[in-house]
Amino acid sequence: MGSGQMVAVFGAYGHTGRFVVAELQERGFVPVLSGRDLDRLHALAASCPGLEARPASVDDPASLDRALDGVAAVINCAGPFAATSAPVIEAALRAGIPYVDVAAEIEANVDTFAHFTDRARAAGAVIVPAMAFFGALGDLLATTAMGDWTAADEVHIAYGLSSWQPTGGTRAAGAVSRQRRGGARVVYRNGRLDHRQDEAPTLKWPFPDPLGTREVIGEFTMADVVTVPSHLSVPEVRTYMTVEAARDVSAPDTPTPAAVDEHGRSAQTFLVDVVVRSGGTERRAVAGGQDIYAVTAPLAVEAVDRILTGRTRTVGVASAGEIFDAPDFLRSLSSHISLDLCPWHEGVQLPCKGHDRGQPTGRGATAQRVGDEAGAGTA
Ligand SMILES: NC(=O)c1ccc[n+]([C@@H]2O[C@H](COP(=O)([O-])OP(=O)(O)OC[C@H]3O[C@@H](n4cnc5c(N)ncnc54)[C@H](OP(=O)(O)O)[C@@H]3O)[C@@H](O)[C@H]2O)c1
Repeated sequence: MGSGQMVAVFGAYGHTGRFVVAELQERGFVPVLSGRDLDRLHALAASCPGLEARPASVDDPASLDRALDGVAAVINCAGPFAATSAPVIEAALRAGIPYVDVAAEIEANVDTFAHFTDRARAAGAVIVPAMAFFGALGDLLATTAMGDWTAADEVHIAYGLSSWQPTGGTRAAGAVSRQRRGGARVVYRNGRLDHRQDEAPTLKWPFPDPLGTREVIGEFTMADVVTVPSHLSVPEVRTYMTVEAARDVSAPDTPTPAAVDEHGRSAQTFLVDVVVRSGGTERRAVAGGQDIYAVTAPLAVEAVDRILTGRTRTVGVASAGEIFDAPDFLRSLSSHISLDLCPWHEGVQLPCKGHDRGQPTGRGATAQRVGDEAGAGTA
């Protein structure tokens, strides 16, 4: 439990920030509410008795310093992160506290690794970007699926979303990323990020039950192409998205998420099906749950808890899969996600049916192409 430690949430009144604030309270931390809009900040504080509101703007470093004064860590939920990551990281470094964000933007996450790796390592600081549904969950699953492998040929992360009602922050982040890459789409091949102008392919992906085989947009590239290769030796990382969700998120009139339960979660369900391939052998790990925004909160808060209790494997800028014990981290989220993991990482050497196979299965690398269709990662 959080033992009453204060954790600042920048962007606290956003859709994801609110889930993070609630999760921090649930876990025994004391959230410090921060953000740039005084009215929205005070409205949130009024609905959370006893919590302090500290207005701050990325253009005003002193305001960020005041927001982080005396807190144990900061979680940045304010996106587009192209504008917020660097100033909030700088403030965290000045305060000498860990920094966690939920950035889905590929370019912003690349920037965090590029600009802060050396300084953070030299300072012994911990910075975990993309500690969220996109960027962390797939990385934790891929790291778990790798087990005793130190390298693989390919990582495939298939997102089986039932639908995707995007928040304003998701749309804004997608627009910023599209602008930064000049309208091109991004792929991770031959050990590097590359830009493509052609349409992303449409494929069939054999998700486990209850989803079953579904059409997906191949090369719907998400933040995992930054986090996974930041620490795993894999030259090819591909991410896929169910066509229904890809259509939802790109349609201009799709509404924002609507709460359907007492936790404020939407009806959206997800399966994240991860396949790693080395030679002729594939290993797999799967997670399922409800609402990609809501589940980001336990991911980010569990990360903070582990950082503050020393359950980390490195310092500097690191992805979830590198800095945490991936299978242990995933299992700790059992009240939020269902898991299908094979226990080879606990020393079991025998392949498991459906997880570790001697022959390529037609999943992953050989997912069947059914035609071309527009679509590409939004962030
Ligand atoms: N990786 C993932 O899986 C994942 C999951 C959830 C969310 N996210 C990302 O998190 C971000 C927020 O998402 P959301 O769902 O919470 O969206 P949201 O409800 O629209 O909230 C956006 C938040 O960001 C703040 N913000 C935006 N630009 C800012 C700036 N320049 N300075 C300070 N605050 C700023 C907003 O404050 P104002 O009202 O003052 O603009 C608001 O608090 C998005 O970028 C989204 O892509 C990623």
